Amino acid sequence: SPSDPDLVERARAAKEKLGDKVFVLGHHYQRDEVIQFADVTGDSFKLARDAAARPEAEYIVFCGVHFMAESADILTTDAQAVVLPDLAAGCSMADMATAEQVAECWDVLTEAGVADQVVPVSYMNSSADIKAFTGKHGGTICTSSNAKKALEWAFEQGEKILFLPDQHLGRNTAVRDMGMSLDDCVLYNPHKPNGGLTAEQLRNAKMILWRGHCSVHGRFSVESVEDVRARMPGVNVLVHPECKHEVVAAADYVGSTEYIIKALEAAPRGSKWAIGTELNLVRRLANRFADEDKEIVFLDKTVCFCSTMNRIDLPHLVWTLESLADGKLVNRIEVDPETEKYAKLALERMLALP
Ligand code: 13P
Ligand code: SF4
Repeated sequence: SPSDPDLVERARAAKEKLGDKVFVLGHHYQRDEVIQFADVTGDSFKLARDAAARPEAEYIVFCGVHFMAESADILTTDAQAVVLPDLAAGCSMADMATAEQVAECWDVLTEAGVADQVVPVSYMNSSADIKAFTGKHGGTICTSSNAKKALEWAFEQGEKILFLPDQHLGRNTAVRDMGMSLDDCVLYNPHKPNGGLTAEQLRNAKMILWRGHCSVHGRFSVESVEDVRARMPGVNVLVHPECKHEVVAAADYVGSTEYIIKALEAAPRGSKWAIGTELNLVRRLANRFADEDKEIVFLDKTVCFCSTMNRIDLPHLVWTLESLADGKLVNRIEVDPETEKYAKLALERMLALP
């Protein structure tokens, strides 16, 4: 839907008034009405790096979700304030692993006698507490664009990986990129005693996958892949690695949001693509490449926005920018110093991956 011209003008004016004091980051899943005001756009890895690259900006306005804003706070200087335009923009996957549950899991691993062989690898989509746990126990953060490198690094440090909180990214990377088998992976269910696993299962596993998932990407099925192949002969199926293993196995290409954009930029004229990721991004790409005769469709028949990403809309952005321009710091995301110290260690290990 076209943005309200009055709000567009107000956002433009407030941003102009703030000048270099503000730096606006936009994740690829954000609405068009918000993305038009982003100084940079990116996947979660690129945005973590870009946030740290503007030490002179007083305010970092993060158009994305809570864990991204926390990571930006950890990676920016203490003098900079990271602002999330709607505090309710969380991530249901990140909420699937709490600090208490992960501490309990570590006790289970200790009881089973395997904790000293385990290296935690946590997906960026996790709270600062989980990142701090990861840093404290010698592990690293990863995103969907560097998960393979993170697993390779972790297997140099220990024999087993505890992968948090997205079982699908963990399994897909282990099996598709690292040549492991499905039997090398076990699923730890935080809602069951001992994670629902025996000590023997934990001893035999190489990958201990946390039972978390993304409900947006969980909607894609093998049936959606088969349907689109029947409807559009010659279609290339490109999905995000947060999709289920069988969907990734049925697809032609798999990658992060940034990878998806690069693949479509490089695609030949006349090619056809079905994309399995959030709908704001797929629609934007379909429009962008329509002139180049690239046919781009959404992989599923039903619409599939990330509802929390969508909470950041133009009215929230206008309110945020106008408040900052009036000298009122609103919606600041601040990680406490003790958590920050260890979470930063884990994030820096990720940034140092080859
Ligand atoms: P990327 O942008 O890193 O591919 O991640 C997708 C996502 O789900 C962010 O929440
Ligand atoms: Fe979280 Fe999924 Fe939304 Fe990404 S798309 S922010 S993983 S709920």
